[in-house]
Formats: sequence, structure tokens, C-alpha cells
Amino acid sequence: MRIAILSRNKNLHSIRRLLQEAKRIGIECDVIDPLECQLVVDGRSRCIQLHGKELPVYDAVLPRIGTSITDYGLAVVKHFEILDTYVVNGSQSISESRDKFRSLQVLSAAGVRVPATVLARGSKNLRGALAAVREMPIILKVLRGTQGVGVMLLHSPISVASVLETLNTLEEDVLIQQFLKESAGRDYRVFVVGGKIVATMLRTAPTGEFRSNIHRGGEGSPITLPASYRRIAIRAAAAFGLGVAGVDLMEGPSGPTVLEVNSSPGFEGIEKATKRNIAATIMRFLAVETRKKIRRENRRKNARKSNRVLAKKRTVKKKTAKKRTNRS
Ligand SMILES: Nc1ncnc2c1ncn2[C@@H]1O[C@H](COP(=O)(O)OP(=O)(O)O)[C@@H](O)[C@H]1O
Ligand SMILES: [Mg+2]
Repeated sequence: MRIAILSRNKNLHSIRRLLQEAKRIGIECDVIDPLECQLVVDGRSRCIQLHGKELPVYDAVLPRIGTSITDYGLAVVKHFEILDTYVVNGSQSISESRDKFRSLQVLSAAGVRVPATVLARGSKNLRGALAAVREMPIILKVLRGTQGVGVMLLHSPISVASVLETLNTLEEDVLIQQFLKESAGRDYRVFVVGGKIVATMLRTAPTGEFRSNIHRGGEGSPITLPASYRRIAIRAAAAFGLGVAGVDLMEGPSGPTVLEVNSSPGFEGIEKATKRNIAATIMRFLAVETRKKIRRENRRKNARKSNRVLAKKRTVKKKTAKKRTNRS
């Protein structure tokens, strides 16, 4: 079995861990920088070239696409899909989960509770938008932020208007969102692989900070979540069809509320906090799914082969019958 991890950096903790576990399980694993891939299509065929050579056939691909290369990265993932390679997180799943508003649309349509949110550009009809998210303070988010950057807590309509106008001049679309004050500074990261929860962590923001991201100084500790939280996390990952997902949840006024779903969740913090071997779980999941795909393909091939043999037999029979009638 040969697997490709799409990542810009072999030295990232998660990539090193995945390679380590792949080796232990006996899976051949290459790390490919998506930006080094040249994607080729013509009317009849398509291929991926790397350093001037066509890529070998991979049984499966694990995309770890950072936000800085989303568009090119998604083109590479899509190319693997049209080459009929098994891709753990597909291009549509990644793009839908990465856009902060589209992801809320998808979750809301799947019946998953999300904070009241308004997509806006500029400060027109600000009163309506603020009424929709209930009361001050409110959260503002830029659509493609990550690791807590681009998430702001604002306390007055005047400051909201001035930030919206500034972001409008930068042509940035913005989310105005209900501030979940019930559990400000605390959220849960749930790691889901193949529809099952692998690890759950409570993240607590440092004093004076409302963002609990590990990159913003948040601290992770293991936690056992109630069934209602676990169910919603699984449903959130499934809404995007993500094989590997990091679901961020908070406690809202009416219960578990999903903030976002990450398609390339890091696992240094959560492996450390929970002592779970997430890298091994991902690799084992990949191996199982790849074997299933190979079996499906073999069945299809065999069915096609036996159909061809049957068709051949029928033609021979018809020809012999015709010869007989001609003779008589
Ligand atoms: N609506 C909200 N109410 C309260 N805190 C929030 C809200 N949205 C985000 N946060 C805090 O900010 C952090 C980062 O927000 P998030 O939407 O997950 O963006 P990012 O992609 O940057 O991690 C969350 O982990 C949470 O601690
Ligand atoms: Mg987050």
C-alpha cells in the first residue's frame, strides 16, 4: 500500500508523527508538496507531474492543506479525485468547511446548532444585523481566519461600525456573530476519524483572552464530553463528509454549539493532552478504507470480465446456431 500526504512541510509535528506511525504499521508513505505539483489535463487524459516526472499511482491521499495555499491545494486534491485515487478529505469537503460562513450554512442545513451569525459587507443596516445576533458584545470574524487570528470581540455598535467600514475598504467579508458568553474562554476540540471520536480536549484561554486556541496560549486538558456533545461533533464532521476532522464546540445558551470544523487539524496539543495516538488511528483508518476501495474495484473488474466472457459465449452460440440453420 502506498500513500501520499499532501503537505508543504515534512518537519511539521503532525507530518512527522504520521510518517512514524505509517512506518510502524508498514505503509509506504510519501510527503508531496502540493505547490510542486503540476496538474495536466487534455481532452482524453490527466496526470500530475512532480519535478518533471509523472507521479506514481497512489492507493490513497491524505490532504493536509494549510490556509495559505487553499486554492492551489484544492486543485491538487481535485486532480487526485479525477484520477480515481481514494482521498480522505475531498476537495469539496475541505473548501466548504474552510470558509467560515459556508461552513455554518452547511452545518445549519444539517440541523447542527451554530451561533446566530450574519454575513455582511460594510456597515449598512447594522442595526438589523446586531438585532439578529441578539446583544452586545458581539464577535466579528473574517472568513478565512485561522488559529484565532481575525476573530474579534467588540463591545459597542460604534466600534463594530468602524471595524466593518475598515474591513470593507480592504474588501474583506465579515461575520457578525453572537458571543457565547456562557462559556467564554473555554471551548472543546473533538477529533473525529472515520465518523468516530478519537480524542476530546477542553481548551482554556489565558486570563484576559476570550480565544482558547492553543496558538493563542490556550491550554489543553483531557475531558469526557456528554453524549449530546459527542453526537453533535460526529454529525458536524459528517455534514462535510470529512474522514478526518477537528470539530470546535462551545456551550451555548441552548446547549452544544459548533463554531467550526477543521479539515487539517493539528494534533500535537491534543495528543499531548489526551495521550491518544491520533496519528496511528488516522493511518489505520486510511489502510482500512484503501483496502475496501481496492476490494470494490476488484469486484467491479471481475464483474466486467465475466460479462465479457458471457457476451463472447453468447456470440459463439448464435454463430453456431446460424451455421446449423444454413446447413439444413
Ligand atoms: N461566537 C463565539 N463566542 C465566544 N467565543 C468564540 C466565538 N467564536 C469564537 N470564539 C473563540 O475564539 C476562538 C477562535 O474562533 P474560531 O471560530 O474557532 O476561529 P479559528 O479558525 O481562528 O480557530 C474559539 O476557539 C473560541 O475560543
Ligand atoms: Mg478554531
